[in-house]
Amino acid sequence: MARKPILAGNWKMNMDHLEANHLVTSLGAALADLGYDPEKSEAVVIPPFTDIRTVQTVIDADSLPIAYGAQDVSTHDEGAYTGDISTGMLTKLGCAYVVVGHSERREYHGESNELIGEKAKKILDAGMLPIICCGEALEVRKEGKHVEFVLGQIDAMLANLTAEEVAKSVIAYEPIWAIGTGETATADDAQEVCGAIRVRVGELFDEETAEAVRIQYGGSVKSGNVKEIMGKPDVDGALVGGASLKADEFAKIVCFDLI
Ligand code: 13P
Repeated sequence: MARKPILAGNWKMNMDHLEANHLVTSLGAALADLGYDPEKSEAVVIPPFTDIRTVQTVIDADSLPIAYGAQDVSTHDEGAYTGDISTGMLTKLGCAYVVVGHSERREYHGESNELIGEKAKKILDAGMLPIICCGEALEVRKEGKHVEFVLGQIDAMLANLTAEEVAKSVIAYEPIWAIGTGETATADDAQEVCGAIRVRVGELFDEETAEAVRIQYGGSVKSGNVKEIMGKPDVDGALVGGASLKADEFAKIVCFDLI
């Protein structure tokens, strides 16, 4: 079965709720202008928690063909966890996806592969889908150990998931040195690691799971380079930071097959 491309915009800590309203409204219009076909690719926005209700309202009101989700979640259901957000709070807001293990959460919040795997399980249990991030730092790439490093992350993060759970999850390969730097991995670099991840999923689970799981590339993706990256056989989408903050630019990325 063909994997549907998934183009997700990670807004990170940008956009207050008024700006979010404007951005998602403009994105809806830009997608319509380009003749976006939701059958061909999936458009997702990942705003900060404080914007989710706003995004939900705009999308529902205009029946926009855009899914949305959150940038992180707690492993706890409720209680004394100041500052945390539960899966139940996100499902009530209609979130379809939750990003886990972004390199910025690993770096600034000390998140481990094990915790990320636990979050992924929690998200799946709640009926949402995790976008599970991995990726190496520049030093690792320079040593030529990037594939080995990323596969180590994959092994640890997927350890407690079933084949069925992995098949519906999304994995995002984001080399840290390419995030927000303008330094894009080449399409061949992206394919090398995304392909290796798919092979490893096949080894850890089975062929069917490897064929089903969607693998994104992330790191300085723009409308000018998305087509080439998406042309690679094991790249099923993109996780986009900076370029997802401009409606016209992100719409072109979502409609990469039309531009
Ligand atoms: P940029 O697209 O800004 O490089 O960010 C990538 C990213 O981290 C998406 O999660």
